[in-house]
Amino acid sequence: MVIAIDGPAGSGKSTIARKIARDLGWYFLNTGSFYRAYTLAQLDRNLDPLDKDSVLETARNTLITVEDGNICINGVNVEDKLHTPLVDKYASPVSSDPRLRERVTDEVRKLAGNMNIVTEGRDTTTVIFPNAEYKFYFDASPEVRAKRRLSEQPELKYEEVLEGILKRDKNDKEKPVGALKIAENAIYVDTTNLTIDGVCEKVYSAMQKH
Ligand code: DC
Repeated sequence: MVIAIDGPAGSGKSTIARKIARDLGWYFLNTGSFYRAYTLAQLDRNLDPLDKDSVLETARNTLITVEDGNICINGVNVEDKLHTPLVDKYASPVSSDPRLRERVTDEVRKLAGNMNIVTEGRDTTTVIFPNAEYKFYFDASPEVRAKRRLSEQPELKYEEVLEGILKRDKNDKEKPVGALKIAENAIYVDTTNLTIDGVCEKVYSAMQKH
């Protein structure tokens, strides 16, 4: 079975998906980490993350695996390197290449196999798992999303974080393939004024009614 959650950056997808996976004993799969890992691999090679052909070449030579929920590049755990400001900045343009998206879609589906998984990203409900048993779209105001990001990385500036979020929203919604949108039968959850437990309650009660 698949629980798929899509939504913009900072809408609470990762936190909630991870918690639900832990509660249910299911496998957690963060699809954004794949784009982040390819961005990191490209930056580590001192190559231009905006050069789509070059990123694709890097992807072909990069083995991504997930060990205990951690993303590994060629066997090395890089989980703590995926959220630097530089990776934040380039992951969105990197993810806009339809050829790379096809690759990530295949990789995620293969990894998921027949397991019970909770997954999240921008196109998990629309492209990767359109037949997921449970589909959700999380949303929240840009200001609250910026504040959430800031609580994780207090060294950043509010205005810059907000600007980055608005830019990424635009980019994610305007992608030619895999654009962020609400899947036809997804349940919309506005997390702006909800606590983590409050969002989980909404998810579980929606699943019971399903
Ligand atoms: O969720 P995140 O911020 O870790 O995702 C990193 C980038 O990857 C983000 O700019 C959106 C993109 N992404 C995507 O295009 N499709 C997905 N399924 C997941 C993430």
